[in-house]
Amino acid sequence: MAVGVFDSGLGGLTVMSAIAARLPDQPLIYLGDNAHAPYGVRGAEDIQALTAAGVRRLWDEGCNLVVLACNTASAVALRRMQEAGVPEGKRVLGVFVPLIEALTERQWGDNSPPREVSARHVALFATPATVSSRAFQRELAFRAIGVDVEAQACGGVVDAIEEGDMILAEALVRSHVDALKRKMPNPQAAVLGCTHYPLVQDVFQAALGPEVTVLSQPSLVADSLADYLARRPAMRGQVGEGLRYLTTGVPARVSDRATQFLRRPVRFEAA
Ligand code: SIN
Repeated sequence: MAVGVFDSGLGGLTVMSAIAARLPDQPLIYLGDNAHAPYGVRGAEDIQALTAAGVRRLWDEGCNLVVLACNTASAVALRRMQEAGVPEGKRVLGVFVPLIEALTERQWGDNSPPREVSARHVALFATPATVSSRAFQRELAFRAIGVDVEAQACGGVVDAIEEGDMILAEALVRSHVDALKRKMPNPQAAVLGCTHYPLVQDVFQAALGPEVTVLSQPSLVADSLADYLARRPAMRGQVGEGLRYLTTGVPARVSDRATQFLRRPVRFEAA
């Protein structure tokens, strides 16, 4: 039984790679909804319908556990899916909680009441849909008090990375960091709340300055998933079945772009 990793497109490959490195024997199936990427500029209903369809597709592939690598899907669709009821034996996890647990210095699954934490001024960089959902602030409020969050919607960055235009992506990151700093001059921590941003993490760090702790998801999500599976070994299934990559887009084109994106060969099949 594989664990499913769902993403709007290519960005979730950063999370998939970190999970594969952390859990090398764990079979994984990645589904990129490239036909509909990016999600970050779509309306909530659209994101919810597309995410639900993607998760069902991975359940049909036999993945009882699906990780929503896409922050926009985690922010806008996860709660709705869980409220609507997930079928018996199936689970869907998002990517915000591992990040927030790291930010609030909590162990996995620590549900104790919210408390004061060392990072009082936190910058959130994410897609427009993630920022307007306020899901990050909602999840943070369950775990921490007294944290001032300033969110910056980073329009254009996902598209530039998907198109391979890193010069544009880096220029956009610098201008989004400048915009954030006009609202919050001295953030202590910055959260990269989008799957694509780890690819320009050094640009965020340079623009923010060395005193800002930059949190990015791939390794935090992989560690959190490893903890989750250690506690629920039945969700792991058989080990050693390898990795598969599915796309709703054109497999040859998506494979080429994924190979550039990860700088190693990746072969996608049609979903
Ligand atoms: C997007 O699909 O717009 C970006 C993915 C993300 O939000 O992580």
